[in-house]
Amino acid sequence: MNTEATHQPADPIALTDALGSFDALWSPRIVTRVNDYDVRVAKVAGEHIWHVHADTDEFFQVIDGELTIGLREEGGERSVVLPAGSVFVVPRGTEHRPSSAHGASILLFEPTGTSTVGDRHDPVPAHVDATTGHQL
Ligand code: NI
Repeated sequence: MNTEATHQPADPIALTDALGSFDALWSPRIVTRVNDYDVRVAKVAGEHIWHVHADTDEFFQVIDGELTIGLREEGGERSVVLPAGSVFVVPRGTEHRPSSAHGASILLFEPTGTSTVGDRHDPVPAHVDATTGHQL
């Protein structure tokens, strides 16, 4: 578990300011924490990798742009498309691959320490940051 900065910021945070403070793609920043969960924001474009979180669900909210999430389920593979303002939860144990053809800003809510590439994943290319989140 990451024990750095387990506090919450003392003042409100504008998500637009948070998103404006960095440029890296697929490299989430931790905005605040709720009990043992992180609230993270990320900028994304292009494809992430197929990966799975064995022990946790993963919450996505699209702030700007459009996100597609590929899902490999028992019945086969499908994609869900999330326009701005949409939320979706990838259930634990479901292999998934986020992507965004034209770019998006997203908010993630997941247990502190959750890796962006999950517990099992395809080889990690240079454009994907394998991280448990960076401080703003
Ligand atoms: Ni994931």
